[in-house]
Amino acid sequence: MLVEKNVPLQHSNSFGIVAKALNLVRVADEGSIAAVLQDPALNAAPKFVLGGGSNIVLTGDVKPLVLKVEIMGKRLLREDAKAWVIEAGAGENWHDLVTWTLQNGYPGLENLALIPGTVGASPVQNIGAYGVELQDRFESLDAVDLTTGQTFTLNAAQCAFGYRDSVFKHSSSVPGPGGHGFGLEGKALITRVRFALPKAWKAVLGYADIEKKMQQMGVQAPDAMQIYEWICEIRKAKLPDPQVIGNAGSFFKNPTVSPEQCADIIQREPKIVHYHLADGSVKLAAGWLIDACGWKGKSIGNAGVYEKQALVLVNRGGSADPVTGGEVMTLAKSIQTSVYERFGILLEPEPVVV
Ligand code: EPU
Repeated sequence: MLVEKNVPLQHSNSFGIVAKALNLVRVADEGSIAAVLQDPALNAAPKFVLGGGSNIVLTGDVKPLVLKVEIMGKRLLREDAKAWVIEAGAGENWHDLVTWTLQNGYPGLENLALIPGTVGASPVQNIGAYGVELQDRFESLDAVDLTTGQTFTLNAAQCAFGYRDSVFKHSSSVPGPGGHGFGLEGKALITRVRFALPKAWKAVLGYADIEKKMQQMGVQAPDAMQIYEWICEIRKAKLPDPQVIGNAGSFFKNPTVSPEQCADIIQREPKIVHYHLADGSVKLAAGWLIDACGWKGKSIGNAGVYEKQALVLVNRGGSADPVTGGEVMTLAKSIQTSVYERFGILLEPEPVVV
């Protein structure tokens, strides 16, 4: 096992923030984790699991031991009358997996095309877009307990998925979403994820952007590949490509409020974009709230608010002068303050701050 020292992370985080991992081990299989845990010094060291780096803000060099997940492989594991079960290594690129499933005739992930990041990170925040969340297609995952080295498998219920949330985002002392009372934040490394793609495929439409494409193209019943292509076009038009402009996707979660709170805000802000949820609560569009506070296109230092979607914070620095994690967090806090002052709502950041 090789422990690499002072490894530059600029190209391992989608914001393009300059920082180093003081110590880094590449995890290509379960054996690499066993080797780390057998070494007394490394066993005792705090650890940070790094996937595609598409949902993190690095605020300095990373002192915990970085475990860079590079477990590869994707295959049809089994199929029955109801579904294809696909298994992928945690280090696989998410979008490549989506493309591979569609090319091989296993539809179901098309609405999640072009989301940056790795397969292993996808359950952590229960990635979602255009009416589909990872939990809708999830079968199970394998992980390694970073304290004991034991491997274990979790089904969907055990992952306690919520909106951009799972058991992997909660520490053990805090009851997890869904009342499981345990959390795995920082304690486990996801090695493989399995997806159940139903053979009775049904297009998930209904989002305004998709409806617009259907009208433009005059297509009433798009197939999965057609939806995949539209989603790629929609995302390319609306969201910055991290290869060109550093970013971490949506920077804040869409907040949920009670119907009373929403009614109160609507009285003051009739145009507020909101969606009624099945449980009676109301989700507000954080992008709209930020936009309404005049942030679109604004910057603090080299951290900016994307011109076409106010929910996305971007790296406006050049390669010689990239954004710092501090600048991103200063901008994020200023946005939180102005949204709170105007609407009384505290936006919750989505990325993990390291
Ligand atoms: N809006 C504005 N101004 C803005 C941005 C948005 O007025 O600057 C309005 C839009 O006009 C629209 C509403 O807010 O009426 C919602 O915007 P959009 O459809 O772009 O979706 P979103 O709620 O901002 C969420 C996800 C995205 C996902 C899209 C599509 C979250 C935090 N974000 O964005 O996920 O791609 O829906 O399903 O839930 C991500 O998580 O990184 C991400 C990109």
